[in-house]
Amino acid sequence: MAMKVELRELNRAYRIGDQVIEAVRDVSLSIDAGEFAAIIGHSGSGKSTLLSMIGGLARPTSGTVLIEDVDIWARDDAFRSDFRNARIGFVFQFASLIPTLNAVENVALPRNFGKGGNRAQDEEEAIMLLERVGLGERLFSYPSELSGGQQRRVAIARALINSPALLLADEPTGDLDEETEAEVMELLLSSCRKTHAAFLMVTHNRAIAEGADHVFRLKGGALQ
Ligand SMILES: Nc1ncnc2c1ncn2[C@@H]1O[C@H](COP(=O)(O)OP(=O)(O)O)[C@@H](O)[C@H]1O
Ligand SMILES: [Mg+2]
Repeated sequence: MAMKVELRELNRAYRIGDQVIEAVRDVSLSIDAGEFAAIIGHSGSGKSTLLSMIGGLARPTSGTVLIEDVDIWARDDAFRSDFRNARIGFVFQFASLIPTLNAVENVALPRNFGKGGNRAQDEEEAIMLLERVGLGERLFSYPSELSGGQQRRVAIARALINSPALLLADEPTGDLDEETEAEVMELLLSSCRKTHAAFLMVTHNRAIAEGADHVFRLKGGALQ
């Protein structure tokens, strides 16, 4: 079955007191396996909210998210969390590593949710991924001992360890210098190409967006 992400009239409203903020309005789109799609738009346009709904982290007010034909918001929390863990990699906008775990343990973490994990093998794969993101020398460092860019690379390795069918990334290179940004982008794109994953990324970088198969521009929560 071909991997496909399909959004149908997705909406999300936030209520603060008696004010309603329509963060995402009637978004419909689809992305195929192996495609790279960029989401662009000004701050507050709904990019992070949209990604969270696709990633199974924030429930839509209405609408449907289909991933590999699974209607993720029609299923219960246990199913959704297993599905997310097995099929979706998520690189968050802000630091998201567990401070009490070293780099290898952070990267191997999504493996512990699966059944019949083999700790030695999981750690070996985590080490391979950390070497690929250029952190072979910092395997056992804790997040507080790493720079922001290094922490981001650990988070990318963690998102890739289960070879997700869908990779979601929220401005994953926003705080990196230009050279590191280019390296991290190449890593993300080549990893997705290798596993034929769909890759959906929020970015402010025009050059990156120009290289995408689709560019979705959000304004006031709606696609332009
Ligand atoms: N938890 C929340 N509660 C209330 N409003 C929120 C919340 N999260 C986001 N918003 C609002 O929703 C809109 C979209 O936010 P967001 O998705 O974070 O945009 P972006 O990622 O494009 O900057 C903004 O107006 C923001 O203030
Ligand atoms: Mg955001």
